Amino acid sequence: MPGPYGPGNASVYGALGGHVLGLTVRAERESEAAAVRAIEDAAFGEPLQGEIVDAIRGTDRWIARGSLVAEGAGHELVGHLLVSEGDLLADDGALVRRIWMVGPVAVSPGWQGRGVGGALMRAVIDLATTRDEPVLCLLGHADYYPRFGFEPARALGIAPPRPWPDANWLALRLPAWDATLTGTAYFPPAFPDSSGLAPG
Ligand SMILES: CC(C)(COP(=O)(O)OP(=O)(O)OC[C@H]1O[C@@H](n2cnc3c(N)ncnc32)[C@H](O)[C@@H]1OP(=O)(O)O)[C@@H](O)C(=O)NCCC(=O)NCCS
Repeated sequence: MPGPYGPGNASVYGALGGHVLGLTVRAERESEAAAVRAIEDAAFGEPLQGEIVDAIRGTDRWIARGSLVAEGAGHELVGHLLVSEGDLLADDGALVRRIWMVGPVAVSPGWQGRGVGGALMRAVIDLATTRDEPVLCLLGHADYYPRFGFEPARALGIAPPRPWPDANWLALRLPAWDATLTGTAYFPPAFPDSSGLAPG
């Protein structure tokens, strides 16, 4: 069954998310790069994450409709999530396949804790499932992402590019998951040292 996020469709998560009535999650539009940057900068209180998003724009790591925004009832943008293509490499350095890396995820400070991040996460999970992606990987807050089904990636055979703790280096197996997909995952080159964000 198709999920609530689909090509060309905005998704209203008021009922599904249960927290934010009137919230819409959809793909970023061409004119919204500056608004997205403002959300990233405000959420993180530093420019690094927004710089990463802008550096990935226009590269082959950018996933069509993979830059998601959350729009409030007044059409203001209140959240952003980028998913981009990283590399899963075998021990000998050979490419196993490209895999989707989630992050950064950013919610405007005044909107945090109201389900916006959750709506963005459910949308990216739907998008990846629709595209038959096997797995999503991320480096993130240990207390936040397990609620969406993320689990320690090492236990699945996906090693991090740096020695990050199991609590922060996480993967979500999707319906197209294939247990032979093992190796070391690398974020796109736009991330510092291709490593990703500091653990939360
Ligand atoms: C982390 C973030 C994306 C979550 O989005 P959100 O819309 O605030 O979260 P939601 O409303 O969907 O979910 C709220 C839950 O997330 C938890 N949460 C929020 N920020 C958290 C954090 N930094 N660490 C752990 N849990 C966090 C809340 O405690 C709450 O938990 P509860 O449901 O058990 O009470 C958002 O708070 C944010 O942009 N933070 C600043 C930037 C950041 O840290 N990004 C993530 C990098 S991994």
